[in-house]
Amino acid sequence: MEQLDTKGRYPESGMILRVRQITYQAEKINSYELTDPEGGELPPFTAGAHIDFHFRDGSVRQYSLCNDPAERHRYLISILRETQGRGGSQALHERLHVQRLVSIGRPRNNFPLVANARRTLLLAGGIGITPLMSMVHELQRSGRDFLLHYCTRSPAHTAFGDRLGPLVAEGRAVVHHDGGIPANGLDIARLLERCEEGTHLYYCGPAGFMAACRRASEHWPEDAVHWEYFTRDAAPKSALSGAELAQAGDHALGLGFQVKVASTGAVHTVPDDKTIVEVLAEHGVEVETSCESGLCATCKVRYIEGEVDHRDLVMSRDEQSEYLTVCISRAKSPMLVLDL
Ligand code: FES
Repeated sequence: MEQLDTKGRYPESGMILRVRQITYQAEKINSYELTDPEGGELPPFTAGAHIDFHFRDGSVRQYSLCNDPAERHRYLISILRETQGRGGSQALHERLHVQRLVSIGRPRNNFPLVANARRTLLLAGGIGITPLMSMVHELQRSGRDFLLHYCTRSPAHTAFGDRLGPLVAEGRAVVHHDGGIPANGLDIARLLERCEEGTHLYYCGPAGFMAACRRASEHWPEDAVHWEYFTRDAAPKSALSGAELAQAGDHALGLGFQVKVASTGAVHTVPDDKTIVEVLAEHGVEVETSCESGLCATCKVRYIEGEVDHRDLVMSRDEQSEYLTVCISRAKSPMLVLDL
């Protein structure tokens, strides 16, 4: 039987909400306010969380929640209409209208704020502002020290102007316009040159922006740097595993590797053209997935033995020492034993 939350309203698998309001935010960016059709409270979320948006064709896309996590009456997502993408954002811009019911998953967070940071530095590039907006709400409400740098092309491309205006006036947010030429925008390398103890850095944005932040923060302590990729395309090559880049080793010869299901002892071969999750499903072992590209950790499974070729862009090294994402990760050893 489907599990419900404590009030028995929302199943773990997701919920049906109503589009209550659509707001123009900036060039090609709309905000969508989603509420309970009966006006009830929604499951809580934390700053940096996202929801899965379920499309009729069965596909799923993730969108960050950008309102204040203290709000229980609505979820706010902002979507950039991308013509080059997989079509999800375009379809939503065209088809979502006020009153429409939509199917979404419960909020999940792969990009949480660290509670005890002395100072928080937020860097947003373009639509990467969305998860950082919920952080801004949270940090401001809890009276914590933070500074937001928001990089956009022009004032017309800048979302959340009403919300950010007072923060800019207080010196807690700086908006940078580059006219479409990153070299004319924020000097990220210079900004991150000095790493002050106790400062935590969060960044999110398009590919070039992510690469610049990653390079500029290489000398920061690993546990002080947090990021969220929107797509695998945004991941710089250095973020991908060596095996993924080289496509070398036995697996490139078409040998694949084996996975063993610990509870049954069943061993299955994962050929080069299939994922672990596909092979498991073929043998009746279902693992829930969402992004299927290593971005959300929905499919994470504990492993007991073996060396994993981690290909996700979401788990910390600590988590990777215990879990793997079976939608995308591979094996470096001949066999992985999965705690299933
Ligand atoms: S389903 Fe998202 S990481 Fe595997």
